[in-house]
Amino acid sequence: MSDAPPASASGAPPASASGAAPATASGAAPAAAQNGSPVAADPVLDLDAAYRDSQVGEILGKLDRELVGLAPVKTRIREIAHLLLIDKLRSSVGLASEPPPLHMSFTGPPGTGKTTVAMRMAEILHRLGYVRRGHLVVATRDDLVGQYIGHTAPKTKEVLKKATGGVLLIDEAYYLYKPENERDYGGEAIEILLQVMENQRDDLVVIFAGYKDRMESFFASNPGLSSRVANHIDFPDYTADELLAIAQLMLARLNYAFSPAAATAFAEYVRLRLQQPQFANARSIRNALDRARLRQATRLFEHGGTVTPHQLEELDESDIRKSRVFAAKERPPAES
Ligand SMILES: Nc1ncnc2c1ncn2[C@@H]1O[C@H](COP(=O)(O)OP(=O)(O)OP(=O)(O)O)[C@@H](O)[C@H]1O
Ligand SMILES: [Mg+2]
Repeated sequence: MSDAPPASASGAPPASASGAAPATASGAAPAAAQNGSPVAADPVLDLDAAYRDSQVGEILGKLDRELVGLAPVKTRIREIAHLLLIDKLRSSVGLASEPPPLHMSFTGPPGTGKTTVAMRMAEILHRLGYVRRGHLVVATRDDLVGQYIGHTAPKTKEVLKKATGGVLLIDEAYYLYKPENERDYGGEAIEILLQVMENQRDDLVVIFAGYKDRMESFFASNPGLSSRVANHIDFPDYTADELLAIAQLMLARLNYAFSPAAATAFAEYVRLRLQQPQFANARSIRNALDRARLRQATRLFEHGGTVTPHQLEELDESDIRKSRVFAAKERPPAES
């Protein structure tokens, strides 16, 4: 487990300035706090030590290594981490410190890393003392909204309770709101969410996720919500090259590798698959690799006899080319 500071969002005692060794960042301390009372005489805080102690660098590094592409997303997360760290340092020298509102929207097509990034975000917020536990709870409309009168509030509150101390990701958030249906209880769930989001002390960050255009109209019809969502982060479709890099990363993690001919075949697979319906970015890549592993296993058993570690590791060309994606160049299939 991490040894993150035990602070909650607000009202927590200011964490120490991380060893506050004398060093860099001199001259950064202002003369007086906002309320006019003087701060301690020009203390010098070590930004680098504070960063190191928060261990947030580790998570950002992991994010860089484990997620291909997503440069704008990574930049935003870095900025948020910096902001929270500075807020902590400010609080440690008696400057007004109000944790910034961090509710977010993650927009983008399926399989572009929204849930994965939300998980990392929860870890970072935890390391920086913004939330107490740092876990992720994923919910959809069905988890929040009841079918009968009186069922919605307890459902929504139960989910909020589970998520407290961490991050609540509401997937396909626009389904919460069904203006065409008079007897819909989604509005009730939104009201409860709003109250909790407003109250910083609830130690919870809410992330709304879904397709970009639908999310925009959802926010347009719920101005109360949209004004409480400070960070909008867009996750674009991956390029073919990024998808190939993602495949290599996933394989390496599983101790598999393409033979040279399989790598070529897979590049072709991705090109074809991209043109077919229901493509879900990195998730489709993961599914394709799972199926290739299945074919490799069958191939090895059909061959029988002995196997070498190398053979156990390698996916060969046939493991890729047996996909229906190749057979169905003219006949778009279901994912395979
Ligand atoms: N940039 C990336 N690099 C490596 N792996 C990735 C990347 N993006 C996503 N993945 C992997 O792809 C899979 C799907 O990602 P994830 O579930 O985060 O997508 P999502 O945007 O939440 O999808 P959905 O909209 O369908 O919920 C996960 O296994 C994840 O680890
Ligand atoms: Mg998701």
